[in-house]
Amino acid sequence: MNHNPLSQTKILLGVTGSIAAYKAADLASKLTQGGAQVNTILTDAATKFISPLTFQSVTGQLAYTEADLWGAQAHVLHVGLAHEADLLLIAPATAHTMAKLAQGSADDLLSLTALALGTDEGSAPLLIAPAMDAGMFSHAATQENLRILVERGAVIIGPEQGHLASGLVAKGRMTEPVEIIGHVRYQLSRSGPLQGQQVVVTAGATQEPLDPVRYLSNRASGRQGFALAQAALDAGAQVILISGPTHLPPPVGAEYINTRTAEEMKAATLQACQSADALLMAAAVADFRPAQFTDQKIKKSSGTPAIELTANPDILAAIKNQRAKLGHPKVVVGFAAESHDLLANAQNKLKSKGLDLIAANDISATDAGFAVDTNRVTLLHADGQQEELPLMSKAEVAAEIIKRIIPLLGEEHGS
Ligand code: C5P
Repeated sequence: MNHNPLSQTKILLGVTGSIAAYKAADLASKLTQGGAQVNTILTDAATKFISPLTFQSVTGQLAYTEADLWGAQAHVLHVGLAHEADLLLIAPATAHTMAKLAQGSADDLLSLTALALGTDEGSAPLLIAPAMDAGMFSHAATQENLRILVERGAVIIGPEQGHLASGLVAKGRMTEPVEIIGHVRYQLSRSGPLQGQQVVVTAGATQEPLDPVRYLSNRASGRQGFALAQAALDAGAQVILISGPTHLPPPVGAEYINTRTAEEMKAATLQACQSADALLMAAAVADFRPAQFTDQKIKKSSGTPAIELTANPDILAAIKNQRAKLGHPKVVVGFAAESHDLLANAQNKLKSKGLDLIAANDISATDAGFAVDTNRVTLLHADGQQEELPLMSKAEVAAEIIKRIIPLLGEEHGS
């Protein structure tokens, strides 16, 4: 039901004549590793930069060139390719290719296939990652072509600011393959079981400042929360990800809200949950903060300070109140990280915080919980059901949790 949206999809990758074409091989390889079947179409100019054999080797699928269009084997090859594809991704896309697509000009296999894709409701999505020198990208003609393509439903990815082949540092670099794949994943997941549902996810640790350079925090990395946001996106949801400070890249398609303290996270979460369908509260919110914030750095010469603490607000308690008034979020999932009496403590939190589901994990284990890629959780449901999940990746834990909120939201919708 809820799975990696790349798996078992047919992606058509168009590669055009830009130096960024060498990165398209990495893109094709990563899409293939993600489970997609990738066929490539290279324009004549693209073959000057990179060989079709490279794509055939990394994808295990055919890579087409102009010769195939005029070959005897394929009957209306472009129509067949367009109709079979779940998505057409052109990366890198040159200014010339975009001009042709905007005009509906179809004089080579790639532009013919793009035209055959159609623009009707239900046509496979067209994603375009431009790459060219900055002046060519900012040219009014290119911008007008982009506007036309967007108006017709194409998704434009990038380009990014950075080093260009001409030596300039400006906007024109093709977006990195990992991020392009995030866009592909997002487009392919839109009709999933959580389509139209708003899911708020909190992640990471809060930081509670003591003075301009010091703060109280904890070891939470944000990984489980980010994985939940990705899993909710993969199931078709609209996602707001509210996170404490972290270096993790937010999943493509999520609205990202960066917070620092528990107070900031509380304000952002209450606001986002006013109309949300589900809240997944994975953040490790600091229970206490320094009672005083000192404007100036505390000096060693002033002696060892005694730091007085004060309680932070409980965000889920505030959500419980707001939910009673507004009826949102309809489903609330909490997390319990415990070093002892795991299930008894989790059960208490499930009740006292008014949760529908709580994921309990034993942080005394070295292979689960904080700052590692794996987790072992027990899921406690409001109806008393208890499920012990085996050790799995945080992405798999996230998918299991999302799988369980789909029916809960379904009940809320009366279906
Ligand atoms: O810290 P504790 O074990 O009580 O966390 C249980 C749940 O409560 C988690 O989902 C956490 O995000 C949430 N929490 C909260 N506000 C706090 C502390 C925890 O919402 N101040």
